[in-house]
Amino acid sequence: MSKLWGGRFTKQTNHLVDEYTASIGFDQALAEEDIQGSLAHVTMLGKCGILPQEDVETIKAGLNKVLEKIHNNEIEFSVSDEDIHMNVEKNLIAEIGPVGGKLHTGRSRNDQVATDMHLYLRKRVVELSGMLHELQKALVVQARDNLDTIVPGYTHLQRAQPILFAHHLMAYVSMFQRDIERLMDSYKRINVLPLGAGALAGTTFPIDRHFVAEQLQFDRVYENSLDAVSDRDFILEFLSHASIIMMHLSRLSEELVLWSSTEFNFIELDDAFCTGSSIMPQKKNPDVPELVRGKTGRVYGNLMGLLTVLKSLPLAYNKDMQEDKEGMFDTVATLEGALQLFAPMIATMKVNKTRMREAVNKDFSNATDIADFLVGKGLPFRQAHEVIGKTVLYCIQNGKYLLDLTLDEFKQFSELFDDAIYEVLQPETVVNARNVYGGTATDQVADAIKRSEVLMRMTEQWLEEHQ
Ligand code: ARG
Repeated sequence: MSKLWGGRFTKQTNHLVDEYTASIGFDQALAEEDIQGSLAHVTMLGKCGILPQEDVETIKAGLNKVLEKIHNNEIEFSVSDEDIHMNVEKNLIAEIGPVGGKLHTGRSRNDQVATDMHLYLRKRVVELSGMLHELQKALVVQARDNLDTIVPGYTHLQRAQPILFAHHLMAYVSMFQRDIERLMDSYKRINVLPLGAGALAGTTFPIDRHFVAEQLQFDRVYENSLDAVSDRDFILEFLSHASIIMMHLSRLSEELVLWSSTEFNFIELDDAFCTGSSIMPQKKNPDVPELVRGKTGRVYGNLMGLLTVLKSLPLAYNKDMQEDKEGMFDTVATLEGALQLFAPMIATMKVNKTRMREAVNKDFSNATDIADFLVGKGLPFRQAHEVIGKTVLYCIQNGKYLLDLTLDEFKQFSELFDDAIYEVLQPETVVNARNVYGGTATDQVADAIKRSEVLMRMTEQWLEEHQ
């Protein structure tokens, strides 16, 4: 069959050009959105008296038939029809005859493809928020189970101060909360209808854009027709939010990899989420977090790719913009793949509380607290810091930890020490001393969990309203 736009041409398109310019290989993922948009458009054409109702009904039935055939894999997409829009239209005409050619009245592929992308991403942003929410839930369950688990907290990956493992996990709950809020916020800019912008300038037909918006549940329509067809900010925004999500997942991944090493031995990932080695029989590898860490690169790449595609593009539509799709699809798939594994992987993770406790007992992460003790006795902090520095050095040279020292040994460094120091140095005391809003004391972490559950209920409500 000839091209839908063949009238002005005297020659067949070179087949290499067909293949080079076609997007059907990937934009067939938009079939459902494309038909959803077309159904709303043709309904509007009927309502505005642009097409007779009889034609509208025929076209609608035809579109539904085409959709059904796509679902049943009964349609063979063709590269010479370039993209999903023309493939659907060709199949519609094959289904119902020339009346199918009336569907494209008052519309261009430029506003059509933009509409498809808005519809597509709108759905994905809700799905992904739901998946992040599931991950938060798994983290909160682990946090609740570990409100009494003390673990070294690190800075520079050196032991710094003891913290609750629950507190560490709740840091990620906060990070994923921001991710969810960013996605929710972006929804406002995704949920705007471009259709009716035509190729770039609007259309000569008396269409009703607001009616189409209402049918497709868009909150607003684009104000400016050129902007409507040229805007890919909403995709860029999604790709940047996705990059931040992957960055967060990669940080958690790195910690899971470290923690499950023999050297740390803080956690064990469930067998169902690990893989073995083809040569070393003893190996149990944390492939999932490793691969999430690795796949973060392609998500950043997709953001850089689209930023570069759009840079310096003149208004309005340019074919360059067809390059907006693969990176977006790939990002959605990469994120969904990671998130769908992460929630159950965290839920089934075993926490080695004994080993964490051993680690805390064998370090100097309580040193700040004896400095604070001396400060309480009136010593200026800078001097207290010096005294404890010397005490720690003495311990290191004598193979001891602070709790192993006798009171006499302590007194070599300062006369201000007394028996109370042994209580101050207990990991529980150290943790609970940080009884400040957002700190690691047990009561504070328990409160933080409660506050996060309030936020999570708000997410649930938003998800329900946007399903
Ligand atoms: N396949 C095209 C894309 O994804 C659809 C829009 C084509 N418009 C055009 N004027 N060639 O960008």
